[in-house]
Amino acid sequence: MEAEERVADHESRDTIDILGIETSCDETAAAVVADGKAIKSSVVASQTKLHEKYGGVVPEIASRAHIEKIYPVIAEAMEQAGTDKDDIDAIAVANQPGLTIALVVGVTAAKTLSFVWEKPLIAIDHLHAHLQSAMMSEDNLERPAVALIVSGGHTCLYDYRSPLEPRLLGSTIDDAAGEAFDKVATILKLPYPGGPSIEKAAADGNPEAIQFPRSMLGPRSLDFSFSGIKTAVLYYCRGQDMKGEDKVDSMSRQEIADIAASFQAAVVDVLVKKTQRAAGRIGAKTILLGGGVAANSNLRAALQEMCDSADPPKKLRVAPKQYCTDNAVMVASLAYYKFKAGLFADLTLEPKASSM
Ligand code: KG4
Ligand code: ZN
Repeated sequence: MEAEERVADHESRDTIDILGIETSCDETAAAVVADGKAIKSSVVASQTKLHEKYGGVVPEIASRAHIEKIYPVIAEAMEQAGTDKDDIDAIAVANQPGLTIALVVGVTAAKTLSFVWEKPLIAIDHLHAHLQSAMMSEDNLERPAVALIVSGGHTCLYDYRSPLEPRLLGSTIDDAAGEAFDKVATILKLPYPGGPSIEKAAADGNPEAIQFPRSMLGPRSLDFSFSGIKTAVLYYCRGQDMKGEDKVDSMSRQEIADIAASFQAAVVDVLVKKTQRAAGRIGAKTILLGGGVAANSNLRAALQEMCDSADPPKKLRVAPKQYCTDNAVMVASLAYYKFKAGLFADLTLEPKASSM
């Protein structure tokens, strides 16, 4: 069936129901979303337990777990939605960026279903999908809008013009913010995944106890760098020459909490200041926030404060917490706009490690 015929085919029905698939890192996820907004189902199989003992995601283990889970997860999403394949208008899949041996599992499943069910296939950029999760709550977005996406693999600022037109303003030149949270948690011997552990430990700490560096990369840059702060925490715990003993084992709970709180405050500070800088650059009226690190309450509160104290105040739109980390709702939601625009992929679709 040609793309135009497929669009015409669904027009006899009320809503456009899209099955979304997500396997870019360590969550196997599927969801059915109607018209980009109404969540009919969302299933996420997390692999946290499998990667825990390695302190990070092991690509081969992730890939194998996706292979095991992908069809049960899709079947459950279809069942929860009370949806039959005939009610599905398109299959959407995140095909970039991410771990290619993880992405390929979702892409292969999506291509297979597209072929067998004779449904159009839609390719989704995982980062643009994270942006979409901040967009699901309301319709009227006041523009210009700056979007901050902070995840385990990426830290990006966008000039958000529409769901299909996010323009990249800046990104990290080394570690992503989430990666820094994960690495610092490993240094502090806190449980995996690092972000939530640091947030929990930081709740009892003093954010001003240690002045960790805040890398701004010059007065005009909209890029980020988080490798310096990670090294600063490492040196703080092991000594400048890394020859000293690892002091973490002998630290009190309070000392660990102070390091976690001071690290978190420095990262949040940089994220907020860069977002403010980007907002000034494009005259933003709205700030959007998404990605795994957007689940962090301190970041949410600091951005809210920045928006409230601006003159005139800016509106902050944040993804609901359960849709900050990887999920397929954001994939199926964004796919609705691609469906409406007739932007379909074909069976030659491949996974790609980067967005470019
Ligand atoms: O978006 P996501 O689920 O996966 C990627 O696309 O990378 O983000 C995962 C990242 C991890 O680095 C995790 O530690 C971080 O998000 N994260 C957090 C919090 N919850 C998850 N970072 C800080 N505070 C949190 N509460
Ligand atoms: Zn993600």
